[in-house]
Amino acid sequence: MKNLIKKLTEAFGPSGYEKKVRKLIYDEIKNYVDSTKTDKLGNLITHIKGKGIKVMFAAHMDEIGVVTSYIDKNGFIRFSNVGGFFPVHSLTARVIFANGSVGVIGEEQRKTMSDPIEMKKLYIDIGARNKKEAEKLVPIGSFGCYQRKFQDMGQRITSKAFDDRIGCAVLIEAAKRLKQKVKNDTYFVFTTQEEVGLKGARTSAFDVAPDIALAIDVTGTGDTPDAKKMAVELGGGAAIKVKDRGIVCDPRIVDALISTAKKNNIPYQLEVLERGTTDATAIQLTKGGVPAGAISIPTRYVHSASEVLDTDDVDAAVRLIVAFLKKDRSSIID
Ligand code: CO
Ligand code: ZN
Repeated sequence: MKNLIKKLTEAFGPSGYEKKVRKLIYDEIKNYVDSTKTDKLGNLITHIKGKGIKVMFAAHMDEIGVVTSYIDKNGFIRFSNVGGFFPVHSLTARVIFANGSVGVIGEEQRKTMSDPIEMKKLYIDIGARNKKEAEKLVPIGSFGCYQRKFQDMGQRITSKAFDDRIGCAVLIEAAKRLKQKVKNDTYFVFTTQEEVGLKGARTSAFDVAPDIALAIDVTGTGDTPDAKKMAVELGGGAAIKVKDRGIVCDPRIVDALISTAKKNNIPYQLEVLERGTTDATAIQLTKGGVPAGAISIPTRYVHSASEVLDTDDVDAAVRLIVAFLKKDRSSIID
């Protein structure tokens, strides 16, 4: 599975520019589902036919990034954020644009080192010698994302864009292990523009009209030096979301996930996330309402160029989804 994760995370795909990621996912999953379609906002909706209730799983294809907004006479490029771009993670990181141009993120001289690192003081150095050269390489309105190679650290791995290519990889792997044998009418949806407001999830859920829905995404951890108190850690298993900033997960779904994990000896932990949310929040409020929840992969340094996670947690999430779909889930909404 590491090869698949490498391919997915190294692909270019800031919000609105998910095409390359979608193609990779389509090629990987097409033989393990009954049908696929791409909707008007670019969501890839795949269907594994089954009797019973409609269950939708969603993982987003887009990643955070930058968009260029101004070029000065010396060719330095100012930019705006695409989603939750953290200036503190970005200094001297490289960004790549759709045409392959690469730039380095620099910062105006700070007066004192204790001054905050602010977005408006950052610029991209594309290696241009003047405005004209820069404009040619990276015109205003160019979208970019971090450029960083996947690195296998053994049990743990690091890369950009685990948020949420790891969710995409988990669904692909689950589809492969399920071999189209499900006890629920199953949709695996790969959504667009999550990082800029859960947009693809909203429209694809309207179209699919699921009975219940689950997002697969990353969550933060409390296991690094002096971290904020949070009972989620790398290697602790798949995180079953209870609540985050945007959603109170349906307790029937939380309970079903817990009992599925227990029955199948799948390591799990419970997640309460104070900041951030997932596609589940948008899906929950589609049409007349959809009972929703989420399974998260614990991830350190989310929204940086070097996110870190544990492959055991990835495997636990895959097993949890497979076990969940192998049992008729109609009783959840009875
Ligand atoms: Co995110
Ligand atoms: Zn995410």
